[in-house]
Formats: sequence, structure tokens, C-alpha cells
Amino acid sequence: MTTYYISTFGCQMNVHDSEKMSSILKDEGYIESDSLQEADLVIFNTCSIRQKAEQKFYSELGRIKELKKRKPGLTIAVAGCIAQQEGKNIFKRVPYVNHVLGPQNIHMVRDILKSNINRIIAIDDNPLIADTDLPAERKDEVRAWINIMYGCNNFCSYCIVPYTRGRERSRPSIAILNEIKRLAEKGYIEVTLLGQNVNSYAGDISFPELLKAVDKIEGISRVRFVTSHPKDLSDDLIVTIRDCEKVCEHIHLPLQSGSTRILSLMNRKYELDDYLRKVDKLRKELPGIAITSDIIAGFPNETVEDHRMTLKALHNIEFDGIFAFHYSVRVGTKAAAMGGQVEDSIKLSRLNEILEVQDEISEKKNNVLLNSVQEILLEMPNEKYPEKMSGRTKTNKVVSVSINGKNRPLNPGDLINVSIIKANRHSLEGMIIA
Ligand code: SAH
Ligand code: SF4
Ligand code: F3S
Repeated sequence: MTTYYISTFGCQMNVHDSEKMSSILKDEGYIESDSLQEADLVIFNTCSIRQKAEQKFYSELGRIKELKKRKPGLTIAVAGCIAQQEGKNIFKRVPYVNHVLGPQNIHMVRDILKSNINRIIAIDDNPLIADTDLPAERKDEVRAWINIMYGCNNFCSYCIVPYTRGRERSRPSIAILNEIKRLAEKGYIEVTLLGQNVNSYAGDISFPELLKAVDKIEGISRVRFVTSHPKDLSDDLIVTIRDCEKVCEHIHLPLQSGSTRILSLMNRKYELDDYLRKVDKLRKELPGIAITSDIIAGFPNETVEDHRMTLKALHNIEFDGIFAFHYSVRVGTKAAAMGGQVEDSIKLSRLNEILEVQDEISEKKNNVLLNSVQEILLEMPNEKYPEKMSGRTKTNKVVSVSINGKNRPLNPGDLINVSIIKANRHSLEGMIIA
């Protein structure tokens, strides 16, 4: 019996890539181990979006050194975005790594298993990625990720992704729709269409047309999509979200900065005013929509004034939630070579201010939901909290419900109505309405 363990870092793309590698490994007779220490094959599916993500991987890899000494037969593969970027340099840095495979070449896992060669490096550009369907071994039985496009053409000046995931490539709509139909037959309730710029989908049909087709698939009750780029948020898409019954009222729309000057240095291809207009339009057509965002603090040349503009934008827009990060230098990107790098301490204090401002807004927004009735989709239980269940509203807010004392059995995948009895900053608590 040969066992494997995959340690996954980073975004949903990586989570889903790990599901696909898992499927190949199971197909080859491997068995998943729940312990890294006991596995015969360990794959690190890595992320290089910020320095912290990179450090986390290298420290985990450092910890495995002793294990490799004790178990010389252990195979270690590095996959994902660090693999793509570093290529064979990983062997110099960490000689006990056996193989390296980039995100466009995860199908090469099979070759690794079958070959006697050590140090396979699979980091070539793969133009066929969107035409090759790999099955996925999904742990979740209710919600599924589905790739609709790969890569990124935008080259935001701070970002490593275009260098690690290659150019944008869209899957044919028929392949996407067939995959979702199969998932519906298996009992999946929710699908999330995935892409670095999901709304830049450029397959045989447009993204709004794709959403309309997914909306019609029987058995699926909820449709989500991440991440949207503001430049490609068209009126047609807004109206489509409004008119498609199953498409959830939530959009993740990274703003990055509230200063148009910084947005231009970031190469984001929109101005603050364009963004604000799109938010207005979204709220006009879909008054209940939740809008979440990403913000970067301390981009090169960001002045106090630029930073204040970001705070002001947060106040004006009132996002439902944000992910905020301090700018992290990524070697090889344009911003890394810019003058005017901001000191770490300033980046951190600006980040804290951003988080404080947003915390208040998030809390206020959640408080509005008190005593309201919300439909949630119950998710798979968290192993750590077996006595609780939680689900999300259509607006993607997490609601936890106590299942004690309920005489009707509750199962993951159930759509239930709850009354919101408590509003926390980042989550809600609900009571099931009989
Ligand atoms: N494709 C998506 C998200 C990509 S990565 C988009 O275009 O929005 C997720 C987030 O990480 C980005 O939105 C950005 O806010 C952040 N990020 C990317 N590179 C970064 C860097 N070098 N430093 C800090 N944050 C970064
Ligand atoms: Fe990175 Fe910009 Fe592409 Fe998003 S759109 S992945 S932030 S380069
Ligand atoms: Fe990280 Fe690569 Fe995703 S850098 S965020 S794993 S695309």
C-alpha cells in the first residue's frame, strides 16, 4: 500500500489543483494518508503571492528534512506557484526535494509515479490546459469548485500570478456544463466557477451566457464565481446576476487602492471613479448584493494622501468584508524594481488602519441583519466542532447554528431558513426556523 499526503497553500486554484492531483493518485492505486509523517509521497502545493506564504512553505519543508533522513524512500514533490517560479533552483536550495511541477503541469503527477527518474521538472507553458479535463477528488460533498479559465494576462505590477499561471485560457463551455451536470447528478448543491479573472472568461460563449446556462442546470441551487476583475464587470454581467435565480448575490471585486494614481502605478486598468460607478450600478440592480474586496497597503510611492483616499473609499463604498495585505515585494515584477518603496513599519500601520476602519463597517453591516430571516446552505461539518453546523447566506456570510435539541435531522446540503440572533464582526449566529 502506497500512501500520499498533499499540503496545500494559497488560493482556491491550488485547493482545486490538489483535488485533481488527488484524483490521479487514487486512480493509480495510492491511498490518502491523514498524516504527513506516515506518507510515502508528500506533495507541497505552494503559493508565492506574498513573502509570508513562501516562508510558510519553506519552514514546513525544513521540518520534513529529518523525516527524509529517517525514511530515504520518501518522495517529496513541490507543486504550485513556487515550483513554477523556482524550477530547478529548488533542488539547489533544498536538495532532498525529488520533483518539481508547476500549476500548468499537475497532470505530470502520473509521470512522477511511473518513472524511475529522480528530479523531474515540469514547468513548461501548457497551451492545452483548458482543453484537458482532469477529474477531481473532492472532499466536500455539497459545494464544488470548477475551473472555467486559467492564467492571467493583466500583469498588475505587484503580482506574481501571470508569471506562475501563464496566459489566460478559457475552457470550452460544453466541458464546463457537462462537469457541472455530473456534479449535480452526484448530489452537489452549489458550484463556484473559478478563474484568476473569472469574468474575463473568453470561451466559445460569453461569461454572462455561461452563467445563464449554468443557472438552468437541474439539481444545482447556488452558483458563485471568483475572482472578478473590475475592468470586465459589464452591465450585461450585472443584469445577468440579477436575472439568474441561482446566481448568488455576492461579488468579490478587488479594488486594491482608493487612489487613482496608485491604481495606475499598479496597472489595474481602471480609475477609482470607474470602480465607484460599477458599485453603484451593482447596488441599483441588486440592492441586497454583498460586495467584498482586496486592498494592498503601502504600494511603492503610496503617500499618506493616497492612503487616506483608500480609507475614504472604504467609508464610501462600505464593503461587506475585505482581505487586506501589506505590499510584499515579488522578485521579477515591475513594482519590485520601482523606487519609492515604503518602509515596513509604515506599511503595517497603514494596514492596521485599513483593517480597523473595515472592522467597524463589517460589524455595522452584520448588525443590520439581526432578526432577519436568511436562507443558508448547510456545509460539511467542521471536524473540530462536531456539535455545530454552519452555512452561508446567498450573500456569502457565514452563519453558525446550534443543532442541539432539533428533532428533525439536519444534513449538509440542506437549504434551511434561520433567524439571525447574533451578529459578530466576521460571522453570524442563527436559529433554525421550524
Ligand atoms: N486575480 C485576483 C486575485 C489575485 S491574488 C485579482 O485580480 O484580484 C489575491 C490578492 O492578493 C490580490 O487581489 C491582491 O490584493 C493580493 N496581492 C497580490 N500580490 C500581492 C503583493 N505582491 N503584495 C501584497 N498583496 C498582493
Ligand atoms: Fe494578479 Fe492582477 Fe492577475 Fe489578479 S489580475 S492575478 S492581481 S496580475
Ligand atoms: Fe498563490 Fe498561485 Fe494562488 S501565487 S494565490 S497559489 S495563483
